[in-house]
Amino acid sequence: MVAHVNKSFSLGLIVVLGLFVVSSYARFSMMVTKDEIHAICTKKGVNSSLCFEILKPTPEILALDFSGLIKFLINYESRNVSDTLNQLKLFAENTTSTDYRSTYRECVQLYEMAVDDFDTSLKALAAKDYDGLNLGIGASLTEMDTCEDDLLTINPLPHFFIKRGTLIKNLCSINLVILECFLREKKILS
Ligand SMILES: *[C@@H]1O[C@H](CO)[C@@H](O)[C@H](O)[C@H]1NC(C)=O
Ligand SMILES: *[C@@H]1O[C@H](CO)[C@@H](O)[C@H](O)[C@H]1NC(C)=O
Ligand SMILES: *[C@@H]1O[C@H](CO)[C@@H](O)[C@H](O)[C@H]1NC(C)=O
Repeated sequence: MVAHVNKSFSLGLIVVLGLFVVSSYARFSMMVTKDEIHAICTKKGVNSSLCFEILKPTPEILALDFSGLIKFLINYESRNVSDTLNQLKLFAENTTSTDYRSTYRECVQLYEMAVDDFDTSLKALAAKDYDGLNLGIGASLTEMDTCEDDLLTINPLPHFFIKRGTLIKNLCSINLVILECFLREKKILS
């Protein structure tokens, strides 16, 4: 009996402490709501179906603030780009056409630059350097665009790599919207 009482008491204490931690954290940093995710995903320039798919309101996502959401997306992009980069390298070495080999090699370089830009973006985000973050995201977008232009000269079209590039570009656009419409105090877009 005594043990039972003690257990409920300490559980109660944990709950109280937990509430205190949650409420004091919430004052500094607002978690995203389903409504805000909906607002992000229906903004102009956002691929809504992709956005709703990747920002499914799971407990993991709903535990993030806008800054956490951007970090989550950059980390996803970074993993995806590294993964695609390895495959591009294999293609660059395996293709029998020397023209296409240099095309793939250029994409390899652009993807390597994108990996660096994701790192730069994460550092800018951590430092609340939102102009730097905007530049970092913009740079990765441009790199994906340039690679796509290159890939479009290959026959037959390498749909796999084009789709991966489109995915990254779409994720970058979502991040720009979160940054400019939601995270920045002084909004550039609305
Ligand atoms: C939007 O994203 C989906 C993947 O969820 C993709 O199939 C589609 O091509 C994308 N649309 C555009 C315009 O990028
Ligand atoms: C990259 O994105 C594609 C398409 O959504 C997915 O199939 C793949 O698992 C992702 N790779 C990584 C490493 O996240
Ligand atoms: C590239 O070529 C090597 C040797 O010809 C082969 O072992 C490897 O599986 C190929 N990789 C791809 C991605 O085609």
